[in-house]
Amino acid sequence: MTSSSKTNKITQKEIGEYRGQVLVWYDKHGRQLPWRNQNGEAANPYHVWLCEIMCQQTTVQAVMPYYTKFLSTWPTVHDLANADNDDVMAAWAGLGYYARARNLHKCAKVVSQDFNGKFPPSQDALKELPGIGDYTSAAIAAIAFNQPATVMDGNIERIMSRFFAIKDALPKAKPIFKDYTARFFDGYTERPGDFAQALMDIGSSICTPKNSKCMICPLLGGCKAYQQNIQETLPIKTKKKPRPHKFGEVYWIENEHGDVLFHRRPENGLLAGMIALPTSSWGIKGHNTQMPKSLENIDFQDYNESVDHVFTHFDLTLSLKKSIKNNALFLDENFFWKSPNDMADKLPTVFKKPFVQFMINYK
Ligand code: ADE
Repeated sequence: MTSSSKTNKITQKEIGEYRGQVLVWYDKHGRQLPWRNQNGEAANPYHVWLCEIMCQQTTVQAVMPYYTKFLSTWPTVHDLANADNDDVMAAWAGLGYYARARNLHKCAKVVSQDFNGKFPPSQDALKELPGIGDYTSAAIAAIAFNQPATVMDGNIERIMSRFFAIKDALPKAKPIFKDYTARFFDGYTERPGDFAQALMDIGSSICTPKNSKCMICPLLGGCKAYQQNIQETLPIKTKKKPRPHKFGEVYWIENEHGDVLFHRRPENGLLAGMIALPTSSWGIKGHNTQMPKSLENIDFQDYNESVDHVFTHFDLTLSLKKSIKNNALFLDENFFWKSPNDMADKLPTVFKKPFVQFMINYK
């Protein structure tokens, strides 16, 4: 590297040299992931899109079985578009952030019907599609279409904060981070997708939040934070408000046939459209737990069990209550009776946890 990398200003020429070093590293050490281009073949946009939606707020390891299952069930975007929405939601159960699944299905329909099954290559056109925002449009444009789009996820933010020693606090400083990141991507059409994915790999294995392995990093020579020995203090993040802890009840109601009452959640809000066990309202300590009106004349036994679940914005503890239906119930169309035997995998994790507890005593 030239000597100006030791000063505060790094030139575009040096940026290009570091990008080259990152790609050399990637060709040797990059992860072999099923959606990535192999042997010089272009990556399949449907695969890239699917992985990018799944990987939002979720680790690659957690995504992998879902990714494989989706592609074996729906090998093309037309297959996914023509799928029953319930099947798509059920296949997503356990992956969390269910709005992603609803938008995924909507997006598949638009691409299948309006784009003849071909994802548009430009970031602007991609961003018009359901569920595709700033990050995802950039990632698909770069990875699937070699467009010079600026890809910035959490790993890349961390690398940039260190490489340029950016001391502004996230999330407010995101535009500043974006400008720095763009110095690597603007106008770069050779391998922008590989470069983005190389940064993701470096971020997850080398430039980690703690115990970063700077000695094996291909960006070491230019890393301003390393030069100042402040790499582990970056990026600076504004403290999040503490998450409230909410409480509620979850109900297991069996009828005379041994079927169990399930509930389809409303189309809006948390866990929208997912299949659930019936549950009360949820609130912080002291709130009056409201059970659904139609369950009010059921006598529940305490189950002396509770389950905990962590959502992005709050923690939840649900107390388990059980009943054998003994009265006529007046249920709206969102409630339904079903044998519980094949339901576990259709439930989001927050309901799968009590479901598993209840099933221990189900005959
Ligand atoms: N996370 C999000 N997108 C990814 C990708 N393409 N490769 C690895 N991890 C990712």
